[in-house]
Amino acid sequence: MKKIEEYVRSIPDFPEPGVIFRDVTSIIQDADGLQLAIDSMQNCLKDVDFDVMAGLESRGFIFGMPLAYNLHKPFVLVRKAGKLPCETVSATYDLEYGSATIEMHRDSIKPGQKVVIVDDLIATGGSVEAAIKLVEELGGVVVKVVFLMELAGLKGRDRLKGYDVASVICYD
Ligand code: PRP
Ligand code: HPA
Repeated sequence: MKKIEEYVRSIPDFPEPGVIFRDVTSIIQDADGLQLAIDSMQNCLKDVDFDVMAGLESRGFIFGMPLAYNLHKPFVLVRKAGKLPCETVSATYDLEYGSATIEMHRDSIKPGQKVVIVDDLIATGGSVEAAIKLVEELGGVVVKVVFLMELAGLKGRDRLKGYDVASVICYD
């Protein structure tokens, strides 16, 4: 059986010179790669007691939904600004150039609910840090954060001190 790393396509100099882009599309366009990715992420949750799964747009939706379905949990969206139709909470975070805003529906998490946050990848950690802030603003308790990939060289994990963080594969 192939390892998950063998399904990852690495593209040098994308989106800019010097960056090696780790591509998740090459994993999920293979049926075995897709199954292995979801099973591996689900394994990170085997002992986790939680109420709600929150996924980050857009690749966090791809990986979060099958996990929520398999574990029979509700799935809530952390979306880029301006997409959600009802009352929202929002958080703005810095990007390399400029900033981004993400939002959640105010009623997507009830105070005291235990929340797992899912995304495909952690790079600088800015997106997930903002997502944690939103979940906590709604009264949720973040019990686990799960990624398929971690780009450890960007030290995103340093922003998540005090949280239980798991990643299936890690690149320097
Ligand atoms: C990517 C990735 C993570 C985030 C990681 O999403 O899917 O959500 O960046 O980067 P960070 O740790 O430095 O915040 P992107 O915003 O490119 O959106 P996409 O999933 O819609 O492509
Ligand atoms: N791959 C996918 N998404 C990303 C990456 C990467 O290497 N870096 C930042 N977002």
